[in-house]
Amino acid sequence: MVLPVMALGVSTWPLVDGIERLPGPVTVVRRCLDLTELLAAARAGLGRAALVAEGAEDLTASLLEQIRLGGAALLVLEGHDHRRLAGLGAVVVPEHATPEDAARLVEEAVAAAAGAPTTVGYADVVAAGRADAAAGADPGGLEDLGGAEPSGPRGAGRIVAVWGPTGAPGRTTVAVNLAAEIALLGQDTALLDADTYGPSVAAALGMLDEAAGLAQACRLADQGRLDGAALRRTAADVAVAGRTVRVLTGLTRQDRWPELRSSAVAAVLERSVQEFGTTVVDCGFALEADEELTVDTMAPRRHAAALTVLERADVVVAVGAADTIGVPRLVKGLPDVAAAAPGARLVVVVNKLRRSAAGRSPELGIREAWARFGAGPAVELFVPWDPETFDEALLAGAVLAETAAGSAGRAAFRTLAGRVLADAGEAEAEGDPLVHGTRLGGRIGAWLRR
Ligand SMILES: Nc1ncnc2c1ncn2[C@@H]1O[C@H](COP(=O)(O)OP(=O)(O)OP(=O)(O)O)[C@@H](O)[C@H]1O
Ligand SMILES: [Mg+2]
Repeated sequence: MVLPVMALGVSTWPLVDGIERLPGPVTVVRRCLDLTELLAAARAGLGRAALVAEGAEDLTASLLEQIRLGGAALLVLEGHDHRRLAGLGAVVVPEHATPEDAARLVEEAVAAAAGAPTTVGYADVVAAGRADAAAGADPGGLEDLGGAEPSGPRGAGRIVAVWGPTGAPGRTTVAVNLAAEIALLGQDTALLDADTYGPSVAAALGMLDEAAGLAQACRLADQGRLDGAALRRTAADVAVAGRTVRVLTGLTRQDRWPELRSSAVAAVLERSVQEFGTTVVDCGFALEADEELTVDTMAPRRHAAALTVLERADVVVAVGAADTIGVPRLVKGLPDVAAAAPGARLVVVVNKLRRSAAGRSPELGIREAWARFGAGPAVELFVPWDPETFDEALLAGAVLAETAAGSAGRAAFRTLAGRVLADAGEAEAEGDPLVHGTRLGGRIGAWLRR
């Protein structure tokens, strides 16, 4: 068996020369001039291992993922940002290693990689953050942002993804109000905007300073520098109804979506749960699988952030609008959500419930449509259509608990928070009775049969 190695950086050359003279399986196939060449070689599957020195400092978690997806293990020469890279899973080759030592380490790294997952996991990225903290490294060059390291609610909380189909059914409204109500129930709460198409959490909360907190946190995670202190510096503490919600705002420009890479989003999520507690995420509408058809499987995908959130969610709140367009969209999207979030409890919310769009008995109409065509979980909650109240809150950049504490909409969000925090099984949804004859039920039935 041959173990081809790609090398990067002049400091690797003496070792590489020595390895070339050795008998045995380890052989050098490429001396790369820069990181771009190394990545191209790795992506082409030329090597089973990459030994890096100069240039190592530019390796991020997502670049490392590309190297691993190409089938190569990473080794770094001591003294070349090796602590950070070790935290991301690289094997460190001691500065004074002999070619024999290096060859042995290559063999061990390849053997270990064969049994390891191919993506950089959260544990790797967080471990890198810890390694950095231990080494006194500056987390992402953000030291000027200041702040001491208070202790977070470690181990507490869960990930709550708020999803809904296209057509503005009220995902952001639900996410923002749900986070506020969870905080009001006494839980430490974070709110993340991972909508790569129409981020609007900051606007909904009246935040003027849009710092693209989630993208910042992702960048740190990608560099292996996302420790607890760094995450707290990227989050904005927003006072909501007397409680504090930690907010990581969304992208400020839509063309920045490639910054929300899957591995980085996963690391931010896990870190957020660890540091901040229950983490509510507005994840937009996109689940389309057609991007999977792309030839370049390593290219970033715009819906990767949403998929990553769903994949890791403990609870998915699926929001649909209560009309003849919104309900079928919700029904049709739910199987994809269930597939994307296999471990999650699904809580279905129908928003904007109104007689003008769903008939004289709007709830009955939706329940009929659901019972006849909506396979999967029952509708757990209806939120009434109340434009005056919701517009007022939006204008104030506030949640209903602040501007309309006694409203029916607010009561619905408080109930939702209770359901989300309840353990599976506790939150029994009412079964959908099989009712017949509502206008909406008939219309939606016709739509779904198309
Ligand atoms: N129950 C409701 N009654 C009245 N208006 C509502 C209700 N729920 C949401 N709205 C309003 O509907 C609009 C869209 O809501 P929101 O931004 O939450 O939707 P979205 O699904 O996040 O849309 P987008 O596709 O832009 O992300 C907002 O103006 C919001 O205030
Ligand atoms: Mg939105």
